[in-house]
Amino acid sequence: MNKIGPSLMCADLGHLAENIREMDKAGVDFYHLDVMDGLFVPNFTLGPDFIKTVRKLTDKPLDTHLMIRNPERYIDLFAGCGSDMISVHAEATDNLQGALVKIKNAGLKAGVAINPATPLDVLDYVYDVTDYVVVMTVNPGFAGQKFIPAVYEKIARLHEKIEQNHFDIEIEVDGNIGAGTIPACKQNGATMYVCGTSAVFKKEGTLGENVARTRQLLETEMTELSH
Ligand code: DX5
Ligand code: ZN
Repeated sequence: MNKIGPSLMCADLGHLAENIREMDKAGVDFYHLDVMDGLFVPNFTLGPDFIKTVRKLTDKPLDTHLMIRNPERYIDLFAGCGSDMISVHAEATDNLQGALVKIKNAGLKAGVAINPATPLDVLDYVYDVTDYVVVMTVNPGFAGQKFIPAVYEKIARLHEKIEQNHFDIEIEVDGNIGAGTIPACKQNGATMYVCGTSAVFKKEGTLGENVARTRQLLETEMTELSH
């Protein structure tokens, strides 16, 4: 099943509760929470208190994306705020395997996030402690960037590896995910879609309309393929 995960750094933070109510009603599958430290990426966004606030506003799974250096230091902190899933960047820690085990020991789903230039072989010895891979389709840090087409091939190769080894691992795509990029991401095997200003938070349309449009895009292709 293809899942829609609005990227809350793109929400109207002055009307967060209304935004979440509208997206819950529209049937989104999870929320993506970007945490940035100004070191690993040149931006600052959402923190633990924001996640605690969102936790009180929705029952949907919270997918916390740690774009911070040495994320292993803060796994318990973000697990304690109500995250259901935490992804850490392979490029941001000297102990990726330990960070993933720590997330799983906290009872959460563990994700590895990889930047556009990072090859898949960083995953070779952590597949057994990985529940999802966040394939960055832009360089992390800011909304509104352009999809990097070279990443399509990476998604396809990762999907092939998962299928060949029967791994129970999902592929999440993050960055400029919208009408122009969803079809090929789907075709290449992605199943979790981080939706920011290119889809759910597009200026044209209400949140509800944009969620419905994104859902249709994901499902229409599927039904077309099924007959
Ligand atoms: C980029 C962020 C993305 C971004 C998605 O670092 O991780 O989640 O908010 O938004 P758009 O669709 O604007 O790329
Ligand atoms: Zn993200």
